[in-house]
Amino acid sequence: MNNQPYLINLPKILDERGNLSFFEHDGQLPFKIARTYWIYDVPGGEVRGGHAFKEQQEFIVALSGAFDVVLHDGEKEIKFNLNRSYYGLYVPNRIWRSLENFSTNSLALIVSDKQYSEDDYIRDFDNFKK
Ligand code: TYD
Repeated sequence: MNNQPYLINLPKILDERGNLSFFEHDGQLPFKIARTYWIYDVPGGEVRGGHAFKEQQEFIVALSGAFDVVLHDGEKEIKFNLNRSYYGLYVPNRIWRSLENFSTNSLALIVSDKQYSEDDYIRDFDNFKK
């Protein structure tokens, strides 16, 4: 499991008044959340990300709409299409990742186990592969 990305299905509390899903550490997430951010209002055709993290792990959910998370482990690329709010993608550290192909009004929620630090980014793909 270590250093492998994987999809995490979230609980779904179905209700005629509207459904509810959640995640928390120990229950669904393999790490404690230190930071939450989100990506929204993405113009058609734009790509976010394009980097890896030395230490930081993340969990990404398409709260609304759909987009692709494209991952690269240095050897091969793997693409996940996220399009429901009741599952998400765990992305370990040291995986190159891009978010692309955003649908109109899509909303990407991202939680991570570290506070923001530019020092944790690897922004050069050749560097990453080394
Ligand atoms: P970046 O992580 O490069 O965006 P993405 O990978 O989604 O394309 O961040 C873009 C800018 O936002 C960068 O200048 C740093 C800033 N930022 C913060 O200040 N705090 C944060 O939690 C994040 C994720 C980014």
